[in-house]
Amino acid sequence: MTITQQDDLDRLHHIGRIVANTLQGMARAMEPGMTTRELDQLGRAQLEREGAVSAPESTYDFPGATCISVNEEIAHGIPGDRVLRAGDLVNIDVSASKDGYFADTGASFGIGPVSPLVDRLCRDGRHAMQIGIAQVGHDKPLAGIGNAIGAFAAQRGYTLIRNLASHGVGRALHEEPEEIPTWPTRRDRRRIHDGLVLTVEPFLSRGGTWAASGMADDWTLFSTPPAPVVQYEHTVVATRRGAIIVTLPG
Ligand code: CO
Ligand code: CO
Repeated sequence: MTITQQDDLDRLHHIGRIVANTLQGMARAMEPGMTTRELDQLGRAQLEREGAVSAPESTYDFPGATCISVNEEIAHGIPGDRVLRAGDLVNIDVSASKDGYFADTGASFGIGPVSPLVDRLCRDGRHAMQIGIAQVGHDKPLAGIGNAIGAFAAQRGYTLIRNLASHGVGRALHEEPEEIPTWPTRRDRRRIHDGLVLTVEPFLSRGGTWAASGMADDWTLFSTPPAPVVQYEHTVVATRRGAIIVTLPG
């Protein structure tokens, strides 16, 4: 969507804070021995308390309120019987709507101590997202996001998953502009305009370049070739003075 009035921005901020608080609550509650279903139930309860509705469930009949992807799973993991263990790398993605406004956020976390490589991957993954967000502003090229993230990734010897794009959001979970690359591209001539609401969600890896499904179920995505992958995602609004992040906890 494109924000044209203060009321739109206020409502977007409201749902943005709800998904961010839900993500933060789940991340804090995460501990070894817990199943991903239990973690998802905490997220669902928090969304319900705030009067919000899970977006993947309402939009795509996803079998869970949130997506929880562990280790070899990199996105759209279905909450279930899997038991979390110390050292796991867990991605939680929370998207929801309230009063017809949608926001989307995600982050990866290690449970307890993880290897220094995974630890660094998490830090750099968050950094990659911030670098992408810094490219958001009125009349800037949409491809600037992926080109900046690509330069950062190359500099540090990382790869990017190239078929999980960012997207417009706001009045639906996925809307125009669709397929916003978070990897380098040349042919994309689209530009960002004032008020545009979009996600920035790079998938940074040490070797992974493609997300593939069909190995466990129709939803869960895995890295090809197999490698640790992290994702960090904010919903942002483009303005003439850069990006406003709406998915901040508070
Ligand atoms: Co998301
Ligand atoms: Co998204």
